[in-house]
Amino acid sequence: SDMSMHIVSCRRKIADKVGEAGYYVVVPDFFNGQPLTGAPGENLTQWLSEHSPVKAAQDAKPIFATLRKERKFSLGVGGYCWGGKFAVEIAKMNEVKAIVISHPYSVIVGDMREVKCPIEILGGENDPATPQKFIYKFLNVLRKRSDKIPYFGKIFQGVAHGFACRYNITNPFEVKTGEQALALMVGWFQKHLK
Ligand SMILES: *[C@@H]1O[C@H](CO)[C@@H](O)[C@H](O)[C@H]1NC(C)=O
Ligand SMILES: *[C@@H]1O[C@H](CO)[C@@H](O)[C@H](O)[C@H]1NC(C)=O
Repeated sequence: SDMSMHIVSCRRKIADKVGEAGYYVVVPDFFNGQPLTGAPGENLTQWLSEHSPVKAAQDAKPIFATLRKERKFSLGVGGYCWGGKFAVEIAKMNEVKAIVISHPYSVIVGDMREVKCPIEILGGENDPATPQKFIYKFLNVLRKRSDKIPYFGKIFQGVAHGFACRYNITNPFEVKTGEQALALMVGWFQKHLK
């Protein structure tokens, strides 16, 4: 469908740009060729139960092991929406050195107590999936942790869910915001992946 093409091209666009910044980028298909399409009658509850980001994080362990075998040790995850929860789950294990989550879906406050590596959180002012009050709660938990980890959070004004990836390429404001989000992600990796 158009939507799944959109998701694929969105992932590819981001991956290409991060690659251009000098990183080796892996874009695994955690949806087994069954992306959420937005088609009428699609059952989100059903889809999420069959494509759990928590389970995907467990299943992803061999990917990190393979990268380490290739002597790629400074690993990070950039997760968008569903991938935000995936990234947080990965960050609870000792698999990566930094994560960035953009307009995350189903990330909860308790996750912020368990993350073990530097985390950057990019939210959208008008994102019902993670309203800004949740971003503030996430940052508050990170700030109060006794075992401090580096963290950074930003809420982009005037943008909705998907702003960092699936933005409207003919809207200059959305393009500018998406590019700022990408630059912040790459900056976070430059700082923490060494
Ligand atoms: C969606 O899937 C869930 C879980 O399988 C099921 O309980 C629910 O009845 C489904 N909803 C619809 C509208 O089909
Ligand atoms: C994309 O942005 C342009 C320019 O602001 C606007 O005219 C167009 O309706 C937008 N497209 C969608 C799908 O929102």
